[in-house]
Amino acid sequence: MFKLKLPTDPRWANIAEENIEEILTDHAWCEQKAATNAIGLITMLPEHPEIVTELLAIAQEELDHFNQVHEIIKKRGYAFGRPRKDDYVNELAKFIIQGSREDLIVDKMLFAAMIEARSCERFKVLTENIKDEELKGFYKELMISEANHYTTFIGFARQLGNPEKVNKRWDAWLEYEANIIKSYGNKETIHG
Ligand SMILES: [Fe+2]
Ligand SMILES: [Fe+2]
Repeated sequence: MFKLKLPTDPRWANIAEENIEEILTDHAWCEQKAATNAIGLITMLPEHPEIVTELLAIAQEELDHFNQVHEIIKKRGYAFGRPRKDDYVNELAKFIIQGSREDLIVDKMLFAAMIEARSCERFKVLTENIKDEELKGFYKELMISEANHYTTFIGFARQLGNPEKVNKRWDAWLEYEANIIKSYGNKETIHG
């Protein structure tokens, strides 16, 4: 899926399902961070009105996801906990090139695409493996939405940089991500 080099062990879905309250809190904050990230990217791209429009749409969709997860938490009488630390995303962020403005913005798009790709894969593992009917359907919908975000972010990177260079850099991202993700898949968080 998305050329991700390592698939998530489906047993992670069992860990998630046994800790659904915890997963939902973590997930809600993931959506909040995705919305914040999209808004942040806009500050770097005011001279690209089409990209700004699309980023605004993504931010709105992520906020909508945030709201949907929050509603499920409320409806089920779960506690909405504080944000969890996302070690996976923090490790990924270290790979962002601190070079020219163009290299930086392209890499920030690839960083976002990477998180969308892995999140989408995790949602797929959830929808295929959990028994909770409501969440099965919910994660299937989100999986489709995050897959579209992945495609959009990759498209932005190719538009803002040299497409050939971007493709090479994306291969490096996939390689780097595979090295990180191999020590995950054992915690009750979306990227854990
Ligand atoms: Fe989302
Ligand atoms: Fe997304």
